[in-house]
Amino acid sequence: MDLKGKTAIVTGASRGIGPYIAKTLVENGMSIIAVARSAEGLQSTQAEIENIGGTCVVEPFDLSNINSIETFINEIYQKHGPIHVLVNNAGVEQYQHFDMLSQEDITSILKTNLRAPLELSRSILPKFIEQKSGHIINISSLAGKKGVAYNSIYSASKAGLLMWADGMRQEYKDSPIDISVICPGFISEAGMFYDGHVDPPLLLGSSHPQKVANAVLKALKKGSCELIVNSGPIRPLLALGQISWKLADKIVRWFGVPALSRKRISA
Ligand SMILES: NC(=O)c1ccc[n+]([C@@H]2O[C@H](COP(=O)([O-])OP(=O)(O)OC[C@H]3O[C@@H](n4cnc5c(N)ncnc54)[C@H](OP(=O)(O)O)[C@@H]3O)[C@@H](O)[C@H]2O)c1
Repeated sequence: MDLKGKTAIVTGASRGIGPYIAKTLVENGMSIIAVARSAEGLQSTQAEIENIGGTCVVEPFDLSNINSIETFINEIYQKHGPIHVLVNNAGVEQYQHFDMLSQEDITSILKTNLRAPLELSRSILPKFIEQKSGHIINISSLAGKKGVAYNSIYSASKAGLLMWADGMRQEYKDSPIDISVICPGFISEAGMFYDGHVDPPLLLGSSHPQKVANAVLKALKKGSCELIVNSGPIRPLLALGQISWKLADKIVRWFGVPALSRKRISA
């Protein structure tokens, strides 16, 4: 897809990784429709984008209002014209023992991380099909490839997003629609892991948020794909996990992932 003059919706654009994605798309000629709950956060992203000569409109919206998403997308089309790229980036996590989570906690994570990307995509796909072009990019996580203790609902939501994108990529293979998924590991400098103020496990390391933005750009240039953003090669370990979950559990424990997650349980 030639990105110049095209428009992207970026969810979760008020803080963390989202503003990096939005700015990178602007630097490559796109206009942004920035979505999140915080109008203030979105306006700060808008100001950063306007400072580099780009265009960004803010659309504050709570994505957990699943039943209002279709109307929201229709209104965006009416106000701002055709959209070419949807980046499903907004997400939440909650470190806790599973038995301490309420029904509301579980619903809230699943709605934001899984139901909302699906509903946004369901609402926008007929328009992409009519336009004969469109790319949906989903920000999943390595937590969707190997379950994370004390963050299991987040893992379940990210695995769901990953497998949904996996099926969709095959389903729309012979169409002009692209579906990609990006799986970041620990991200430094900004975002939900950085905000937790704990160091990443030494053997896993962390990546700069710009790496996720670069992966979004790579996906847009490449077409439908699955990309991993991690400080070192991780696919061999993930492959090992498919052969022996016992060994993979041991390795993850040896890396210190469950211990790190336990530290992040809120009091
Ligand atoms: N940071 C990491 O290490 C890491 C690693 C792997 C994957 N990821 C994924 O990368 C994505 C971005 O994460 P991040 O680290 O940038 O997280 P973050 O700093 O916590 O930002 C999350 C973004 O999602 C938005 N959001 C949350 N709930 C929302 C809702 N109900 N409606 C609309 N917007 C909502 C937030 O905006 P408001 O609060 O203003 O609504 C914010 O803009 C997420 O999908 C995350 O799972 C992150």
